[in-house]
Amino acid sequence: MILGIDIGTTTTKAVSVENGKLVKKIKTRAADAVTSATGAFGKLVLENGIRMSDIEGIIITGAGSSKLGKEIFGIPARRVDEITAIGIGGMFLSGKDHIIIANVGTGTAIIEAEEGSIVHLGGSGVGGGTVQGLAKKLLPVSDFSGIMALAAGGNLKQVDLLLEDIMDTRLSFLDGETTASNFGKMLDSAAPGDIARGLLNMAYQVIGMLSVFAAKSKNLDRVIVTGRGSNNPIGKQVLSVITGMYGVEFEYPPDAEYTTAAGAGLSVKAGSSFAS
Ligand SMILES: Nc1ncnc2c1ncn2[C@@H]1O[C@H](COP(=O)(O)OP(=O)(O)OP(=O)(O)O)[C@@H](O)[C@H]1O
Ligand SMILES: [Mg+2]
Repeated sequence: MILGIDIGTTTTKAVSVENGKLVKKIKTRAADAVTSATGAFGKLVLENGIRMSDIEGIIITGAGSSKLGKEIFGIPARRVDEITAIGIGGMFLSGKDHIIIANVGTGTAIIEAEEGSIVHLGGSGVGGGTVQGLAKKLLPVSDFSGIMALAAGGNLKQVDLLLEDIMDTRLSFLDGETTASNFGKMLDSAAPGDIARGLLNMAYQVIGMLSVFAAKSKNLDRVIVTGRGSNNPIGKQVLSVITGMYGVEFEYPPDAEYTTAAGAGLSVKAGSSFAS
């Protein structure tokens, strides 16, 4: 068995991979990379009754992975580049062999992946961290479930300047409800729920439009959304409106939060040994 550990900017994820399949998964948080990785390792092993002797090797990736050495508790360890891990994990979880991936974590990375070629197309600092960071100053809550609860009752028309606010007709293919300027209206009567809605709308519009341009530049019409930000009902609504406008579909594979860790574990091809 191979373990994949993704030391993300915010969360560390660990998975076990056997015969090319994702078997167990856990996530944890810690202040520093070493505690995070060893903690995730311990949690995965203890909670799932994994025997140390069954672990062939550990593959580490993510922002914090450079802090770790060639062995963890006597088990051989090595690093894989995060973009490669996201590409491998995204192809595996989506079951598709030529895709655009929008990995929405603390920030957002956009990747084109196909067999034999994984390319980092670019990305944006706008991700889950942006929503939470702004929430700290703008809202009475900053945990994600609190932001979502507030946003559920929010009204975008209180904060965003919409096309219908500034013109009577459509603008090319855009209808009146389209955002002309995120937070460009911000009425004095805007309530925290409206602002929460506006924050999520802004983040997912940026993520969605970057993804659309990436997909179109590669003649693809599908984007696989991964990372913790893939599991956000309001974000999905925003992205579905973008699908309606641009014809690019967004897909949310199961276990998308574990894409990077899974890709690390799967970067050793099924059937070949860790050392090769
Ligand atoms: N329901 C949610 N919807 C969207 N974002 C969320 C949700 N819950 C948590 N987040 C955000 O997800 C981010 C963490 O996601 P993830 O674990 O994929 O990132 P990471 O791997 O730690 O970061 P990165 O990949 O950018 O290094 C945090 O910034 C958090 O604010
Ligand atoms: Mg990540």
